Amino acid sequence: MKKFLVSISLLFFSILILIPSLTLAQATYVGSKKCMSCHSSIYEAWKDTLHNKSQQILSRTNDSLVVNWKGMIKLKAGNIPEVIVKLEEGPGQVYQAKLVDAKDPSKEVTYNVVRTYGGWGWKQRYQVKIGNHHYILPFQWNQATSRWVPYNLQNWYNEDGSLKQPAVGKSFEMSCAGCHNTGLELKKVGQGYESKYVELNTGCEKCHGPGSEHVKSPKTKGKIINPRKLQYERGLEVCGQCHTRGVSVPNGTFEYPWNDKDNKPYPLGEPLSNYYQFKPGIWGDPQAHSKSHHQQWLDFQKSGHFYARVLCFDCHTPHGGPSRSQLTKADHNNNLCLSCHGKDKKFSNPWAIRIHTKHNYAPETRGTSRCSSCHLVKTAASAEAGDIHNHDFGIIRPRVSLEMFEKDPKNVVPNSCNGCHIEWGKDKAGYEKGVKAFESLFSTKN
Ligand code: HEC
Ligand code: HEC
Ligand code: HEC
Ligand code: HEC
Ligand code: HEC
Ligand code: HEC
Ligand code: HEC
Ligand code: HEC
Repeated sequence: MKKFLVSISLLFFSILILIPSLTLAQATYVGSKKCMSCHSSIYEAWKDTLHNKSQQILSRTNDSLVVNWKGMIKLKAGNIPEVIVKLEEGPGQVYQAKLVDAKDPSKEVTYNVVRTYGGWGWKQRYQVKIGNHHYILPFQWNQATSRWVPYNLQNWYNEDGSLKQPAVGKSFEMSCAGCHNTGLELKKVGQGYESKYVELNTGCEKCHGPGSEHVKSPKTKGKIINPRKLQYERGLEVCGQCHTRGVSVPNGTFEYPWNDKDNKPYPLGEPLSNYYQFKPGIWGDPQAHSKSHHQQWLDFQKSGHFYARVLCFDCHTPHGGPSRSQLTKADHNNNLCLSCHGKDKKFSNPWAIRIHTKHNYAPETRGTSRCSSCHLVKTAASAEAGDIHNHDFGIIRPRVSLEMFEKDPKNVVPNSCNGCHIEWGKDKAGYEKGVKAFESLFSTKN
């Protein structure tokens, strides 16, 4: 009888899951503005999030630059000799970049910058249009360090310093658009893809599916997706479709989820793995911790939170809010972590927590005993690479860093201790001290 009930409820459950994808099949994208009239407070909050703001159309009347666009910048990377780019205000309200050929400096090519990308505290990049495709200029402005740094210089310059046009495969349409536009459609044209989209950034429908049917009859159930109501993994993939790295299925044509055989976008609610695959070797080994941005979903699947069915949006408000990183509760005072873990005796008061952390309880001041300072380590090796928190929530042991250091001193992921104890990341003796300190305080098993 019990078994029977289970299978009946499973059946019922799977019908529930199927409903959205069946009825949404006819729906089309309408754009976030259409949602505003009935969901105005959500709309207002979302409007100010990075999800909505990351790309901007650039002109001198719509000036989204975070840096003074003037003068000359010098770039050097890999085997390419130093190259020069001139930044100028062009005619007709545009900003221009003149790329100078380093082999024959009498040659230069002028591009109008049409969109900016980012610029909300970390970095800004710049897009130009060549033919049907957008490309990202070979430099970025790092806000943390106030520096111009090269960005994929090799896409624009040959090794002898002469200029080239970037390959179509490197276009925004083929390597970025799937994660940065809403309602994207691609049409194959020659070697590349022409794109159409409904919204330049992450609109409501990127997380809720196309909304035309819901807008027509909002009270009818099943016409719009609520990620919370999807099966656990499918709900997590609503965020995972972008907060990850990989290539399209089956041919790896795009660097975002897509069925590149039938030219079909990933629809919410279907397994992401039918549209997206990890490609070892490009972004690091899938077992390693993230070293560059947007790998949170890959990390997350290795965490205890995944097995406990915690969702990204248990900790992050999808529509934005006052806390840093759109957190549901503040992190610096442990409120976020203790909202769940505080029920466990081990973490029920500062004394108990001290026993766990072996440090004084001062999360708000020195950061000691702040859960995230050991469990959400910033794994990017440098400020230039970004500022990304490991999302597997595990402790990165000093021994891991030491072993990496011994293999290649330039490729070491910071560990749970040497973000504060910086002397344990200086040299081999330092790393060894960190290992000793850790092993004297904490268990070395597993
Ligand atoms: C004409 C008013 C109206 C418009 C326009 C509208 N909605 Fe809704 N929406 C509603 C109402 C009413 C409900 C609650 C329905 C219910 O109680 O079942 C709702 C519910 C929802 C839900 C929750 C569904 C669930 O199963 O929990 C989501 C998500 C949602 N809307 C998203 C959107 C998005 C995205 C847009 C724009 C594409 C949009 N809505 C436009 C009226 C509207
Ligand atoms: C980054 C993804 C994302 C974007 C963008 C997004 N939502 Fe949501 N939305 C979610 C998630 C996840 C939930 C479930 C939240 C929960 O249950 O904690 C949700 C829940 C909702 C709900 C139902 C529950 C509630 O909070 O009232 C409505 C209505 C809704 N969203 C409307 C919108 C509208 C309108 C927009 C655009 C202005 C929008 N969403 C943009 C992810 C998103
Ligand atoms: C369409 C792709 C896409 C989807 C879907 C998406 N994100 Fe994002 N998310 C981004 C991009 C792009 C940024 C960074 C924008 C920037 O920095 O300019 C971002 C930024 C963030 C940030 C950082 C905000 C800050 O203030 O620093 C958080 C947190 C986040 N996303 C959580 C989520 C969660 C949770 C979900 C699922 C409910 C989700 N995202 C779904 C693309 C996406
Ligand atoms: C698989 C999805 C995906 C692809 C493909 C992708 N991005 Fe992103 N991008 C994201 C997400 C998610 C974030 C937010 C990063 C975070 O906080 O971890 C982001 C952040 C950014 C930022 C940082 C914005 C800021 O404020 O610092 C820039 C710039 C950016 N992306 C540009 C690009 C460009 C250019 C490409 C193509 C060459 C690209 N992205 C391809 C998902 C993607
Ligand atoms: C248990 C809580 C929790 C869960 C679950 C969680 N995060 Fe986070 N996330 C955090 C905290 C804490 C930070 C760091 C905030 C800070 O210091 O700015 C963070 C930061 C981020 C950032 C900003 C960039 C960075 O790395 O600092 C993004 C983007 C993000 N999370 C995305 C996600 C996504 C996508 C998921 C699901 C795959 C997820 N998070 C699940 C707690 C969580
Ligand atoms: C929404 C509730 C919730 C929040 C918020 C939350 N956790 Fe958890 N966490 C859980 C559950 C449930 C488990 C699995 C059961 C357990 O180990 O307690 C878990 C497990 C863990 C584990 C053990 C993982 C493993 O691999 O065994 C660590 C470490 C952890 N959480 C750290 C954190 C940190 C750090 C924060 C704050 C940034 C946090 N959690 C916030 C619910 C939460
Ligand atoms: C000084 C560093 C440090 C701080 C701060 C810290 N932890 Fe831990 N935590 C550890 C270590 C070390 C382990 C053992 C990890 C292992 O075996 O991989 C651990 C393990 C865990 C585990 C899994 C095993 C267990 O003991 O249940 C959970 C859950 C956990 N911590 C939660 C938290 C919470 C919640 C906070 C904040 C109140 C916190 N931790 C603060 C170092 C720390
Ligand atoms: C948020 C910063 C921070 C983190 C992360 C941190 N510590 Fe500490 N640690 C401190 C401070 C500050 C002290 C001084 C005593 C105090 O306030 O508790 C200290 C003291 C110590 C001491 C005793 C004095 C000394 O320097 O020898 C040891 C041993 C130690 N930490 C080991 C570790 C280990 C092992 C880890 C990683 C699991 C770690 N700490 C992570 C900040 C940190």
